[in-house]
Amino acid sequence: EFMKELKGVSHLEEQLMLQLDLDHVVVVPGNSDDLSWVKQEMGKACVRYMKGILHKDNTIAVTGGGTMAAVAEMMTPLEKAQNCLFVPARGGLGENVENQANNICAKMASKANGNYRLLYVPDPLSEEAYQTIIGEPSVKEVLELIQGANVIVHGIGDAITMAERRKTPESVMDKIRSGNAVGEAFGYYFNAEGNIVHKVRTVGIQLEDLQHTNCVVAVAGGASKAQAIASYFKQAKSHVLITDEGAAKELLKGT
Ligand code: F6P
Repeated sequence: EFMKELKGVSHLEEQLMLQLDLDHVVVVPGNSDDLSWVKQEMGKACVRYMKGILHKDNTIAVTGGGTMAAVAEMMTPLEKAQNCLFVPARGGLGENVENQANNICAKMASKANGNYRLLYVPDPLSEEAYQTIIGEPSVKEVLELIQGANVIVHGIGDAITMAERRKTPESVMDKIRSGNAVGEAFGYYFNAEGNIVHKVRTVGIQLEDLQHTNCVVAVAGGASKAQAIASYFKQAKSHVLITDEGAAKELLKGT
């Protein structure tokens, strides 16, 4: 029975790799919408994957959110990759502190026995403040570390869930709704075709920057995130997806 389940999951992994044009996919059994431990399993799978690719002195940029928090929680000392540096991929994006990239980055670094640098910037930012802030030497230094990250690990969320969680102003909510946004990642909101409907202006990794990193790992699961995951991959390029059976089955429906 267990082997049958494993075989089913590895079949889903192969199918998803083809459908989303990925280098690697991990599908953990279960649906994290229903069972919270499935999210922990994704966290564990992500840590395992990271341990396989990280080297000594690497820089890892991470985003925020509950799934990334599970990755941080499951992190253990990186014995084969000493002295790694963790940085937040972008600013806070209006999240509560427990979901902020800074917080998750510090937690992950301490569990990994690594180091961290944080970004202290308010966000979202006005165009004027953005230009001033990116010129500040202390911010500039961290931004350069982020831009040079060897590995980026990020979450993907449902657009409306994310916009509401971030207490997005009503005018922006309207834009997100009328643009039929379904997915969100890195502060970008995507419609089902993968077009960008809205972008939160903040410092850190911009979508274009993903092209300069050859290891971008997305961690997102739950059947309810299938549409969001699909929309993200129509626009952006991550190389690896760590997900669960719930999302995988939904993503593969109709193929
Ligand atoms: O706000 C950071 C972030 O990574 C978003 O880009 C993403 O949509 C969200 O968190 C995912 O959060 P969760 O894992 O809690 O669904």
